[in-house]
Amino acid sequence: MIFPIYAYGQPVLRKKADDIDKDYPQLLQLISNMFETMYESNGIGLAAPQIGLPIRLFVVDGADVDDIKPKGFKQVFINATIKEEFGNEWDFEEGCLSIPNVRANVKRKGELTIHFFDEKWQEHTQTFDGMAARIIQHEYDHIEGILFTDRVSPLKRGMIKKRLENISKGYVDVDYKMKFPKK
Ligand code: NI
Repeated sequence: MIFPIYAYGQPVLRKKADDIDKDYPQLLQLISNMFETMYESNGIGLAAPQIGLPIRLFVVDGADVDDIKPKGFKQVFINATIKEEFGNEWDFEEGCLSIPNVRANVKRKGELTIHFFDEKWQEHTQTFDGMAARIIQHEYDHIEGILFTDRVSPLKRGMIKKRLENISKGYVDVDYKMKFPKK
């Protein structure tokens, strides 16, 4: 099942999401639907708040990203906590399924260590770098109520302000289903 993606301006995108427990209803089905929704919109990551659920769950599939490590990187992150971010900061032009047609450079640290559970409730503490770290940082922000547009330069933020307002009103050309707050 494909979910509509919640657009910029939806209050759920600004909530710090809550942990879930092993009894969460139909979790595997939800995860499978999240992957399906992500592929339908050509994303490489999707966080639960983006489909309206304020829970600490996100999925990533960076298998098609050049030179990504680990190779074929595809992972479910449940109740994730970033323990540490380190290494040199680098700029990368990010985008977001909740903010269509907006891209901007974001500076982030190069490496991170994250604690999380996978879909089988196996516990992991793992270190990532490069694009894998970048994708995780972006999705992790979503479960903290942060959007990449919060992290761009003040100049760029001024430049995209009007476009963000338009997105929240549904004035955007997008080829996947979305839920707009002001439409
Ligand atoms: Ni995003």
